[in-house]
Amino acid sequence: MRALPRLAIAALLVAIPAAAVTVTVAAHAADDPTPITVLTSDFEDGTVQGWAGRSAETLAHSTAQAHGGTGSLLVSGRTAAWQGPSLDVLNTFEKGTAYTISVWVRMASGSDNARLSVERRTGGVAAYDQVVGNTAVTSGSWVNLTGRYTLASDVEFLRVYVETSSTTGSFHIDDVTASYVPALPIQTGIPSVKDVVTEFPVGAAITGAEIVTEHGQLLNKHFDSVTPGNALKWDATEPSENTFTYAQADPLMAYAKANNLAVRGHTLVWHNQTPAWVFTGADGQPMTATAEDKELLLARLENHIRNVAAHYGTDIGVWDVVNEVIDESQSDGNRRSNWYNVTGLDYIRTAFRVAREVAPHAKLCINDYNTNVAAKRDFLFNLVSTLKAEGVPIDCVGHQMHINVNWPTIAETESMLTKFIPLNIDQQITEMDVSIYTSNSENFTTPPADRLLKQAYVYRDMFALFRKYPGEITSVTLWGLADDNTWLDTFPVTRKDAPLLFDTRLQAKQAYWGVVDPSKIETSPSPSSPSASVSTSVSPSASVSTSVSPSTSVSPSTSVSPSASVSPSTGTSSCAVTYRVTGSWPGGFQGEVKIGNTGTNALTGWNLNWSFTGGQKITQLWGGTPAQTGTAVTVTNASWNGNVPAGGSTTFGFLGSWTGTNPVPTAFTLNGTACAIL
Ligand code: XIL
Repeated sequence: MRALPRLAIAALLVAIPAAAVTVTVAAHAADDPTPITVLTSDFEDGTVQGWAGRSAETLAHSTAQAHGGTGSLLVSGRTAAWQGPSLDVLNTFEKGTAYTISVWVRMASGSDNARLSVERRTGGVAAYDQVVGNTAVTSGSWVNLTGRYTLASDVEFLRVYVETSSTTGSFHIDDVTASYVPALPIQTGIPSVKDVVTEFPVGAAITGAEIVTEHGQLLNKHFDSVTPGNALKWDATEPSENTFTYAQADPLMAYAKANNLAVRGHTLVWHNQTPAWVFTGADGQPMTATAEDKELLLARLENHIRNVAAHYGTDIGVWDVVNEVIDESQSDGNRRSNWYNVTGLDYIRTAFRVAREVAPHAKLCINDYNTNVAAKRDFLFNLVSTLKAEGVPIDCVGHQMHINVNWPTIAETESMLTKFIPLNIDQQITEMDVSIYTSNSENFTTPPADRLLKQAYVYRDMFALFRKYPGEITSVTLWGLADDNTWLDTFPVTRKDAPLLFDTRLQAKQAYWGVVDPSKIETSPSPSSPSASVSTSVSPSASVSTSVSPSTSVSPSTSVSPSASVSPSTGTSSCAVTYRVTGSWPGGFQGEVKIGNTGTNALTGWNLNWSFTGGQKITQLWGGTPAQTGTAVTVTNASWNGNVPAGGSTTFGFLGSWTGTNPVPTAFTLNGTACAIL
């Protein structure tokens, strides 16, 4: 069991002679963000540096490939995909500390997907925590797997390992490291989110990591409620048929109870994280839409809900009964999941009926993402209306709200909320986070200050909106506690995101102030100038920071804009536009438009005009308000991005439809002034 203080562990590690680890113990101040490396395996000394197989596979030092230097570790003789190299970290990893683990992987031949995990055992019971999910690897190059891991419980066995997803091919690993940045104490002198936002409970999704050490303190200080992020899903609770296990959820539930936190149960039915056996028929074949398969699947569903919902009884006051059942790309709006393909809508009817029987006290929700998208929202509305009219006991609509700094607009979000009011059911914000990224191609090593500022405004405006509807909204949950543990680090692509109210060191971000006291949002985009003035009255149009260099070339037009919205001072007004199609599919596309203010006047409001000569139509836009008449498009600034300082820029995105061709516009005017095209 782990009880050693960190320095004692470090001393112990240094004392292990053949250890594969080297420990850098430096005197770091508590607020020094320099990582401390606790483990390094470089395989440069001709040995396997303490690594061992998970079974009978062969591990050997190899010089056939090396990521750095001349040596690596080769695993061969694997007879199952789960076999691979593993390292004991029982005396290396301390409970409650978030470690960043990095490993380089390369197949000896062929290709596969590799993943990085930790196996831990408590009381002889094993659990497996994935650190980095399936990542394509080949024999052609080294691929890095980097992820964060926090041990949340006492263990007697702890090993890091690498496995593959399908083949038993040999592979190399090299240059393995694990490091952590020392935790900072949480800020106790700031207001608690739950004390400021009193219209409804405010919650956070949790994994084990959030209930220990400083994370637990932060959770208790700010939140009324928790949602186990993965622990109540089917793969965690019924991994094989009729074998129920609550090893992941029980510690979280016990913590919630001990700390008076309400619990949202997530989720009884979903198409993800549901084991394959669920959809395998009695004949061992994938189920199809036969009467026999339907009966078996609904029986499994009923058995699952009876067991899981009953296990926690009244400790769970709200259940996401079904998750993500809408797909607006289908003409009827129903997601073609295995559930739907085998049972039609009966899986939803059965799930709610059984949940009501087993948990009559609980609010029963239908939960989905992108419910702000009009088409999706309307399909969800229609489904809930129809099912409620049949008597299906749906009490609540859950809006996940996985959004980003540019999308969606407040108006669109308000339409989402008002749409469901006539149904006379609860609405809950169930998984809110605000990504700093606006496209899959962006990747920041450090969150840019302007994105964090935009994010603060989004949190400010969204919470202000939610608080306008206290009678409708009965809880708001964020999908995580702090930026050190967010699912967005690996979704939709692997990169560091920062979507929550607290940073990776648990300190309050601008986003936190957006929720708690927007007058304290620092409008300076530079986090390195803490002395920058604290605005006392943050206007909704407070400026968004610059990202285009003021030296950006080409000012094609010297004409002063006729628009009165440009500053009346005697400066110049000119602009540069970058128009990009960021994604395209038959009939539809996604676009991004960046407006650079290349003049010397600040913009205090803008409208951008162009012509869609191919007949394209904007169907949805974020970061502005669109108007289109025939081919003529006008986009006007949103409330928060109208101010663009000289040398500054702002970006908006949109979805459009097209037929035939999708030509890029060849001319743009901003407030009447022709812009350069970059
Ligand atoms: C996510 C978890 O946070 C991740 O840890 C896991 O790997 C994938 O699922 N919508 C949902 C949640 O309803 O269950 C998802 O949670 C995030 C998207």
